[in-house]
Amino acid sequence: MKGKNPHFYHSRFSIAPMLDWTDRHCRYFHRLMTKDTLLYTEMITTGAIIHGKGDFLEYNEEEHPLALQLGGSNPVDLATCAKLAQERGYDEINLNVGCPSDRVQNGRFGACLMAEPQLVADCVSAMKDVADMPITVKTRIGIDDHDSYEFLTDFITTVSEKAKCEQFTIHARKAWLSGLSPKENREIPPLDYDRAYQIKKDFPHLVIAVNGGVKTLEETQLHLQHLDGVMVGREAYQNPYLLADVDQRVFGHDKPVIERHDIAEMMYPYIEKQLASGAKLGHISRHMLGLFQGMPGGRQWRRYISENAHKAGSGIEVLEAALAKVPR
Ligand SMILES: Cc1cc2nc3c(=O)[nH]c(=O)nc-3n(C[C@H](O)[C@H](O)[C@H](O)COP(=O)(O)O)c2cc1C
Repeated sequence: MKGKNPHFYHSRFSIAPMLDWTDRHCRYFHRLMTKDTLLYTEMITTGAIIHGKGDFLEYNEEEHPLALQLGGSNPVDLATCAKLAQERGYDEINLNVGCPSDRVQNGRFGACLMAEPQLVADCVSAMKDVADMPITVKTRIGIDDHDSYEFLTDFITTVSEKAKCEQFTIHARKAWLSGLSPKENREIPPLDYDRAYQIKKDFPHLVIAVNGGVKTLEETQLHLQHLDGVMVGREAYQNPYLLADVDQRVFGHDKPVIERHDIAEMMYPYIEKQLASGAKLGHISRHMLGLFQGMPGGRQWRRYISENAHKAGSGIEVLEAALAKVPR
């Protein structure tokens, strides 16, 4: 990635945007395990940011490098949000061109935008005009019967040439816009990593990351032989300790790997602070349930937190008691 924006260094490994999962508490937790991984927010719609009540752009300073994922297709609205994102100090803005849910299709954004590459280019250009940071696109390899390699290359060509978009993250399966739920659309259409590899070969000047079905750092290393980056979603959430040696194995750092117990305890000061400002323990601890996945005591940890964290007035003592059930 010589000569590219230094930000793209972090694209080598990223955690996918996941609605309801990668909120700021989750991201804080993930960041404890890896300093260089690029973190994505959940998709936030332009409508929520512009008209919604509450601060949808809030995050913890510790979360950098952090990309904001936007959902929308109105260039003016996207530019408004991009400007706000710039003021708030985000490191990247990513446009969602991969989500197939009905709600999103009604708003004419998400995966259905793959059929409108010129509009996507207009959206990216509008954001680039007002925000001095990488504006990237997360897409699928196709939608419905538009699943030829040419369809994908036409999309990438238009968006990269007309809007000078430099990075694409490709979820390596197509989406069916009707008939499948979003969950099924993450499981049923087959993965085709070769499509993403071919895109990198045909567009060597672009930063191309792949997403979908990656569960280990071994698989990550294999993809990195062909591509610039790997984005991991569900596995990073459900088995977060996967992240503990990403800095060493993907980014080449030489530092000790933090142990699971220490990571749990490193969350305490953050949780205390959040509780003091009105957060509920369960909203934070739910992201930590998978920390001891596959380890002796891991089920007890998960069960104790699930049964107790939501009770009124629950605090750190719930995590301490859960941790005591897991042998060091
Ligand atoms: C609970 C959940 C929420 C998701 N929300 C988003 C989202 O907001 N934006 C998006 O682009 N993709 C979203 N996705 C899709 C993921 O970003 C990713 O593309 C997909 O899970 C495939 O990667 P994986 O196999 O590593 O999980 C979501 C996935 C899950 C499981």
